[in-house]
Amino acid sequence: MILTIRVYGDDVLRRPAGTVTSFDEQLATLVQDMAETMYSAPGIGLAAPQVGVSRRIIVVDISHNDHQDQLYALINPEVVERSEENDRMEEGCLSIPGVNEAVVRPTWVKIRAQDVQGNEVEIEAEGLLARCFQHEIDHLNGILFVDRLVPFRKKLIRGKLKKLFGTISPPVAANAG
Ligand code: NI
Repeated sequence: MILTIRVYGDDVLRRPAGTVTSFDEQLATLVQDMAETMYSAPGIGLAAPQVGVSRRIIVVDISHNDHQDQLYALINPEVVERSEENDRMEEGCLSIPGVNEAVVRPTWVKIRAQDVQGNEVEIEAEGLLARCFQHEIDHLNGILFVDRLVPFRKKLIRGKLKKLFGTISPPVAANAG
């Protein structure tokens, strides 16, 4: 089932998401629906708050096909290690359509998470995949990529956000990285 994607200004995008504790049929269905929603958008990553569910769940597939053989569905994911080296790449977000901006992030990360059955997994990723994991995990903490712009760009796009979404939705202070 394709779910409705919440857009900038919706409070659910600013709320820190809750830990998933039951690995049941309901979770499996939600993950499947999130994947379907991501592929249909189309996008390469989606976090549960973006479909109005304030739980720590992300789906990522940077392959641009919907065969699901390169689909990551991660529950309670955390970045446990990151490279000192950063790179800068343009990002967008299904919840902020019409806005693309360059964001600086670590090039490499190690992620610890659980799969849909609740088994612990550890993934090392670099390049676009690493970036995508970090972007989606940010969503679970109420952080959007526009919060990570250099101050000059952040200030510049305020007008654009206001025009597109009718509001400015700042990060909740405690979450601001
Ligand atoms: Ni996003």
